Amino acid sequence: MSEIETSMQGYLKVHPDLHYLFFGGKGGVGKTVMAGATAIWAASQGKRVMLASTNPVHSLSGLLGQDVFGKHTPVQGVQNLWAYEIDTKDTIERSKQEIREKIQWFLKFADISTKAEDFVESATMNPAFEESAMFENMVDLMFKNEYDIYVFDTAPTANARRLLGMSKVYSLWVNKMLKSREDARTLREMLSFTKKKEADPLMDYLVSFRDRMGHARGLLTSDEKTAFFFITLPEALPIAVITRFIGWFHEFGIPVGGVVVNMLIDHSQVKADSPEFVRNRVAMQDRYMEDIWEKFDGMVRSIVPLYETEVRGVPMLNRLAGSLFV
Ligand SMILES: Nc1ncnc2c1ncn2[C@@H]1O[C@H](COP(=O)(O)OP(=O)(O)OP(=O)(O)O)[C@@H](O)[C@H]1O
Ligand SMILES: [Mg+2]
Repeated sequence: MSEIETSMQGYLKVHPDLHYLFFGGKGGVGKTVMAGATAIWAASQGKRVMLASTNPVHSLSGLLGQDVFGKHTPVQGVQNLWAYEIDTKDTIERSKQEIREKIQWFLKFADISTKAEDFVESATMNPAFEESAMFENMVDLMFKNEYDIYVFDTAPTANARRLLGMSKVYSLWVNKMLKSREDARTLREMLSFTKKKEADPLMDYLVSFRDRMGHARGLLTSDEKTAFFFITLPEALPIAVITRFIGWFHEFGIPVGGVVVNMLIDHSQVKADSPEFVRNRVAMQDRYMEDIWEKFDGMVRSIVPLYETEVRGVPMLNRLAGSLFV
C-alpha cells in the first residue's frame, strides 16, 4: 500500500514515554538533519530535549551554527533544547588511564614484572576501542537521565548489535568467574582464619561492567523508551543498508520506530519540458519508491522533499521539522 499508515507524529503519540531516539542509515542520507529537526520539534512540544552526538566527526556545531563541543549548550533561539558534542579524545584518554591502573594492579597482584604500558598499547590500539569509548559515552548520557528526551545523531548501529549479542554471553561468563572467585576467596579466608575481605578491583570492574551492560540492554530494547529510525533515499544502496539494519535489529529485539524517506523530488516542480536529467531522476525515484512501499510496508513514517538548499540553521531545521512531523 503506497501511503503512510502511522506518521512520525502518530508514532510519538502512541509512544508517549519515548525517551531515546536514534537515527541511522547510510552515510550522507540526512541522519544529522533529521536528528536536529526532531529535537527542535520535540522541544517545541514543551519537552526538555538533549541533542547529542558521540561521533568523533561532529556535525552538530555546523548544523546549528554555534559551538556545542564538550558541554551541554543551550541552543540559541530554541527553548528547551540543549546540544552536546561529546569530546571523544578526552574519553579515550580517560579509558586508557583506567585500563592502565587495572593492568598495573593485576601485574602486581600476579607478581609479574612486565611494564604495564605494553599491555595498555595492545589493549587500546584498535578501532574497536574508539568505538566502544563512543558507546560508553552514549550510555553514560542515557543513564544520567537529565532530560525528557534524548535525540542521538548517528545511531551506533553496529555497536548496539554487538552489545546485545555479547551481553548475555558476557553476563554468563562474569557470573561464572564471580562464583569461582568467591569459592577461592572463601577457602583462603577460612585457611587464614581471618574474616577480612580482600579488595579486588578487577572483579569490581567486571561486576560493574556487567551491570552497566545489563542496564544498557534493558534501555535499548525497551519498546516504550527507545526507537531507532532509519533514513533512506529513494535509491538502491541506502535502501539495501537500512534493510540490513532493520533485519539485525529485529533479531536482537531493538525497537525499530520506522523509516523516513529523504530527498524526494517534488513532482509538481517537474514538467514535460523540464531538463531530461531531472525527469530521469524523478523516474528513478518513482521506481525506488515502489520498492520502499513494498519492503517497508507500514513502517514509512514520513517523506521529506529535496530542498533547493542544504539544511542548516534553526529556521531551515524548523522547515524540515514541518515536513517530518506533518
Ligand atoms: N531534504 C534535504 N534537502 C536538501 N538537502 C538536504 C536534505 N536532507 C539533507 N540535506 C543535506 O544533505 C547533506 C547530508 O545530510 P546530513 O549531514 O544530515 O547526513 P548524514 O547522514 O548525517 O551524513 P553523515 O553520514 O556524513 O553523518 C547535508 O549537507 C544536508 O544539509
Ligand atoms: Mg551526520
